[in-house]
Amino acid sequence: MKKILVIHGPNLNLLGKREPEVYGKLTLDDIDGKIKVAARAAGVEVEVRQSNHEGEIVEMVQQAAGEFGAIVINPGAYTHTSIAIRDAVAGTGIPTVEVHLSNIHGREEFRRRSYLPEVAAGQISGFGADSYMLGIRAAIKLMAAGEQGG
Ligand code: DQA
Repeated sequence: MKKILVIHGPNLNLLGKREPEVYGKLTLDDIDGKIKVAARAAGVEVEVRQSNHEGEIVEMVQQAAGEFGAIVINPGAYTHTSIAIRDAVAGTGIPTVEVHLSNIHGREEFRRRSYLPEVAAGQISGFGADSYMLGIRAAIKLMAAGEQGG
C-alpha cells in the first residue's frame, strides 16, 4: 500500500495558541503525533507537511503523484479562496479527503464555501483533532479501493 500525505495549510502551525476556543488546545505537533500513532496502528505509512504558502501547497499536491495513494488536506483559509489548490487536487487524481478542525458550515458565511468538495472524495468538518483521525480512516479505505481497482 502506498503512503498517505497529510497537508496542513496556513496558520495551522499556530495551533494551541491560535483561538483555542475554536481550534482546541492541541498543538500541531500533538496532532501530528496522534496522526502517526493512528497510521501505525492501521499499518499504513504517513507523511505530514505544513505550509503557509499557497504555491507550496499546490506543489505538494502535484508532487504527491506516484508516491502517495491518498491525501488528507486541511487547506486552512485557502479552503475558501484557492482555485489553484482545487485544480491541483483535480489534476493529481489522487483520492483526497478535506478536513477541518472546526465546523466550517456553522461559522461565518465566508467559511461555508469551500472550493474542494467538487474534487475531493469527501469532507470531514467539526470534530477537532479527531477530524484528522477520521480523515486517515477515510484515506485508508480510498487507497484500498484504488489498489483493488475500485
Ligand atoms: C480551518 C477552517 C478555516 O476556515 C480556517 O481559515 C482555518 C482552519 C479548520 O480547520 O477549521 O485556518 O480549516
